[in-house]
Amino acid sequence: MFDFLKRNTKVEPIFEALEVDMHNHMIPGVDDGSESMEMSAECIRTMWEVGYRKMYITPHFCFPKYANDEEDIKRRYEELKSYLKSQGVEMDLVGIGGEYRIDDSFAKRVKEPHFLTVGSDKYLLVELSLHSQRMGFENTIYEVQMQDQQVILAHPERYLYIDVNSSKFEKLKDQGVLFQCNVLSLSGFYGKEAQSRAMKFIERGWVELLGTDTHNLVYAKALRDATQNRTVRKVLEHHEFMNKELVDKKIHRKL
Ligand SMILES: [Fe+2]
Repeated sequence: MFDFLKRNTKVEPIFEALEVDMHNHMIPGVDDGSESMEMSAECIRTMWEVGYRKMYITPHFCFPKYANDEEDIKRRYEELKSYLKSQGVEMDLVGIGGEYRIDDSFAKRVKEPHFLTVGSDKYLLVELSLHSQRMGFENTIYEVQMQDQQVILAHPERYLYIDVNSSKFEKLKDQGVLFQCNVLSLSGFYGKEAQSRAMKFIERGWVELLGTDTHNLVYAKALRDATQNRTVRKVLEHHEFMNKELVDKKIHRKL
């Protein structure tokens, strides 16, 4: 079933440089990510193979399409951990977060936040629509920041409707928003434009984190191929990211 990953070929674990993945969709059946425990195990095995050693999982919270509930997600996360352990999958699952779409529902919930966060319980991963701009999204982000949460904006390079040179991005950085680009944007998986935008953000020193955004086996294979990609290798060699710093060693639990 998973033969196309070609495990017989050797892979260089170049992502050891990051060690921690903080953006992926490995809770099965709750969004457009993994469809089964088996698929999650296979993707996570690949992530280990390419060098990741720890991971947070971040399912979509996007209403009404992925109307997930924090308590239910926490329960499913524990089930996945048990399954991976039973299958001997080597990966430290260090926490469950979410990837929150900034939509009407999110804007309402900001008043009484009980979000799933990554890292030392204050890093909130948010995303925008990939297709159209939500007016005033910066204000919603600001409101979240006022609740003492650090905001991480997922894949800014993929919001093609905002010009890469727009002052909007600069303002978000001034506002203290952390940027997380996708590793696979750097290898060209999402097209040339996303690749060049991601590189521009990195060269400006605006990108604190890289995430895999792994959804399924196609992404896992692309991640494997990315270990041979010149741009990805160059970025990992010449730039520092704070993925490792997200993990609080004191509360770190082994799978
Ligand atoms: Fe995602």
